[in-house]
Order: sequence, then C-alpha cells, then structure tokens
Amino acid sequence: MNKKVLIISSTPRKGGNSDILCDEFAVGAKEAGNKVEKVRIADKKIGYCTGCYACQKTGACAIKDDAKKVIGKMMAADVIVLASPVYFYSISAQLKALFDRTVVVYPNLTNKKFYFLLTMADTNRKMFDGALAAMRGFLACYEGSKECGMVCVSEAETSRHYSPVRINGDTCQHVYRIMGDVVANAFSVGKELT
Ligand SMILES: Cc1cc2nc3c(=O)[nH]c(=O)nc-3n(C[C@H](O)[C@H](O)[C@H](O)COP(=O)(O)O)c2cc1C
Repeated sequence: MNKKVLIISSTPRKGGNSDILCDEFAVGAKEAGNKVEKVRIADKKIGYCTGCYACQKTGACAIKDDAKKVIGKMMAADVIVLASPVYFYSISAQLKALFDRTVVVYPNLTNKKFYFLLTMADTNRKMFDGALAAMRGFLACYEGSKECGMVCVSEAETSRHYSPVRINGDTCQHVYRIMGDVVANAFSVGKELT
C-alpha cells in the first residue's frame, strides 16, 4: 500500500507477452493503493555503458540520453519490477544495457524490493534460469535488494490460452499472446505486493 512502484518493461514488442504481464501487474498494484509507473525502455534512448568511469570522477555519466531519467525513477522507487522476454537464455539487451548504465549511481541503489516478470517460448522451465541469474546478479550488486516475487510464463505451457498476436499492426503466426490464468497471476502478484 502507498508504495512507489516502477515497472520496467524491456521488450521491444509493445503489447507483447511480458508487456501484458507488466500491465496486469500495474492494474493489481494500483488497485491495492500503490503509485505505479510503467516505463517501456525499448522506446527510450539508452546507450551502452562504455566503461569509461567518468561517472566515478564527475558523478555524472558521459552519455547524455534517457538513462539518467529512468535511473532517477529507479532511485525514487520503493519497488522495481523488472520485465523481460527470455532472449537466448538470458534477459533482453535493453534491460542489460540499463543495468550497466546504473553504474553511475553504484552502489547507492539500495534497499529496493524487486519483482521479476519473464516470458519465453520454451516448455522447459529450467530455461528461465539464465534470465533469472542475470536479474539476481543485478540485485546482488546493490545492498538491501530484496527479491519479492516473480511471474514466469512459458508460451508453450499456456497453449490453451494461445491466440495469434498482432505486434505493431503485423500478425505474427509463430508467436502467441498469453492470456487467461497466467495474466491473472500477474494481477494477483501486483495486488499483493509487499
Ligand atoms: C532474439 C530472441 C531470442 C529468443 N530467445 C529465446 C530463448 O532463448 N528461449 C525461449 O524460450 N524463447 C526465446 N525467444 C522467444 C521469446 O522469449 C518469447 O516469444 C517471449 O514470450 C516474447 O516476449 P515478449 O512478447 O514480451 O517480447 C526469443 C525471441 C527472440 C526475438
């Protein structure tokens, strides 16, 4: 209740599976009285960290783009929701780029609560492990980070909920929109966030 919740949706596919989970999580979290903001980082300009360490000397990143604003929102949030499709057994490049850019505030992104929202095509749930390890590695770098919950959805496991998906106006026959129970689950986790 009354928490500042920042949902970071990293899929480039607006309305894609992990983006749907973000929206449902947001509805649940809002219904429970929290202040919720969703940011679609694929729509932002967030360049790669160059490892120049200018931030350590000046306190500011040498790259001038949207990362500063997003990282500011992360610093201000009580709860951060990290959402990603599984890409080659890991997280999206968009989310990893953001993780790397937080070096500008390192080690001060402390005491945040985190939720994970992940989607993938595979039936084998072990295949979430790489993406979970990437997210957990990020949390491990910041003191007081607390993993509070996750929703991991395999498209293949939810075949009874399949429906062809339209992404940016195009119908994609080989990808499917997750529906039903799994989406409701994201709503519940959002609603019950602590
Ligand atoms: C570049 C790329 C890599 C992918 N790698 C995997 C993978 O390693 N394992 C998997 O199960 N699905 C993989 N997928 C499928 C997506 O994870 C899956 O379709 C997911 O539900 C998409 O989520 P979104 O709609 O939020 O983008 C990949 C898709 C793309 C485009």
